[in-house]
Amino acid sequence: MSLRACQAQNAAAPDWVRRSTNRAIVPTSVTAQKPSLTTRDERMLVSVFCAYTATATLWLLFATAVGMLLAYKFGAPDLGPGAWLTFGRLRPIHTNATFYGWASVALVGLAYYVAARSSHTALYSEKLAWIGLILFNVAAVAGTVALDLGYNDGNLEYREWPWPIRLIFLTALLVTAWNLIGTVARRSTHDIYLSNWYTVGGVLWTCIIAVVAILPWYQHGLGQVSVSGFYMHNAVGMWFTPLALGIFYYALPKVLNRPIYSYALGVFAFWTNLVFYPIIGAHHFLFSPLPWWLQTTAIVFSVAMLVPVWGGSANFLLTMRGRMRDMTRSYPLMFIFVGVIGYLVGSTQGTFEAFRSLQEVWHMTNFTVGHSHLTMYGFVTFAIWGGLYVLVPLATGKEPGAFGIALHFWMAVVGSFIYVISLSVGGTLQGLDWKHGLPFIQSVADMQSYWVWRGVGGSLMLLSHVVFGWNVWCMSYGGGAQAAPDHTTPAPGPGT
Ligand code: HEM
Ligand code: HEM
Repeated sequence: MSLRACQAQNAAAPDWVRRSTNRAIVPTSVTAQKPSLTTRDERMLVSVFCAYTATATLWLLFATAVGMLLAYKFGAPDLGPGAWLTFGRLRPIHTNATFYGWASVALVGLAYYVAARSSHTALYSEKLAWIGLILFNVAAVAGTVALDLGYNDGNLEYREWPWPIRLIFLTALLVTAWNLIGTVARRSTHDIYLSNWYTVGGVLWTCIIAVVAILPWYQHGLGQVSVSGFYMHNAVGMWFTPLALGIFYYALPKVLNRPIYSYALGVFAFWTNLVFYPIIGAHHFLFSPLPWWLQTTAIVFSVAMLVPVWGGSANFLLTMRGRMRDMTRSYPLMFIFVGVIGYLVGSTQGTFEAFRSLQEVWHMTNFTVGHSHLTMYGFVTFAIWGGLYVLVPLATGKEPGAFGIALHFWMAVVGSFIYVISLSVGGTLQGLDWKHGLPFIQSVADMQSYWVWRGVGGSLMLLSHVVFGWNVWCMSYGGGAQAAPDHTTPAPGPGT
């Protein structure tokens, strides 16, 4: 679209939309253009989107029920006896199921919907979308069963599934990458919308990571340690992060009915993310036999990560500026807001965590588990929820009850707050105990009350997921209330 056309479009926008930006609207507004999908394309897109959302929700329920059992085992180690329920088997079941069953499947479903809608085109291939969904789920089921039977690559964190199962997941990724690129390539808009930079970039990069993670010659000795850091941090930084940011870039303008604050800042954050993130993995192995220079480089780039993190967060917060009153009236917006704050605070915390002086205290403690949940839950999971609550009602025309969405929000926010704060404080005390050379059992005793609080927070989180499951049912296959065109915001016009 030419700048002149955009300016014309800006002139046609409602008064307050024009006032909200002093610049001409370049194609940063997902609400600005008309949809060009046929009814069949539309139906097909919605059924794919709902199926990804529904299976992901089942994985969230399963994975976090396992997380709950794990949490209670800290206070009552004999809870859930027998080989199949040991901590060592259930922990990777929880992490892999949240990563690959919940977050990955939900994010891919959202990415398909966003790619098609923002590109004003049908999905490149409906068949590939279904094949991808089946492969993701087959991998997650097979991985879970294998782990519970004791078959695992236990020393490879977040890739404990035996390698043939990881190959199935890799195939699902390749299928998804092909389908997303095909969809964006067929767009009827001139520019590639920002969200698609992030999602297509994320999927392509993850195919590379998943291949590196499986190559047999990197699975021994120090090479394995190095690749483990590379894999772990890129899984979170080049897979979940860009896909979740892609949702913000689409859902936020949609819910506010206002263009993103700066398209250029979004592109800048994309490239700086790509340059800095892949090099920071060694911060997981500070003080290890990995070369000292590699560890130092990882620390330096962890600091550099503040550039895309603060740039991206500023872009989202400036898009929301002046609209705090809408926040109190729109739960989807509140989910997105919490997600943005989770991204900003969790990633900034990560930068500090990477300093050697602080790693001396926090490494191996529950502080890191707090950071994992602040980011994977407070950022990624809230971003998914925000995206789903904005987009599923637009897709299906059905929305959940106001009470259900409020209950989900408050239980999840309060629960995760208790979870993260208790582990951050407890984890710091744990690290200080170790640093002062106290007997290990002293640190266990000191953690007891914090683990109980984590259990309380976790219970609220799990309950909120049950409510979320009901909300998903109402929005997709069940009989939810008819969505008002402007259900998410009092602002005019539902957009595309
Ligand atoms: C961009 C800034 C970030 C930096 C500099 C950073 C840094 C760190 C550091 C230093 C650790 C601790 C390593 C240890 O003590 O072993 C860590 C762990 C972790 N981070 Fe981050 N982090 C960042 C953002 C994120 C984000 C956005 C996510 C999720 C989307 C995330 C997920 C995790 C997870 C899951 C772990 C635990 C890894 C393990 O099991 O050892 N981080 N991060
Ligand atoms: C009801 C909600 C949840 C509960 C009760 C819970 C509980 C737990 C527990 C007990 C652990 C083991 C910690 C340890 O080894 O000390 C854990 C680890 C982990 N969980 Fe969760 N979890 C929940 C939700 C989630 C979600 C939704 C995600 C991701 C989207 C997630 C990602 C992780 C990760 C990455 C780890 C590894 C942490 C690390 O090594 O630093 N959890 N969780």
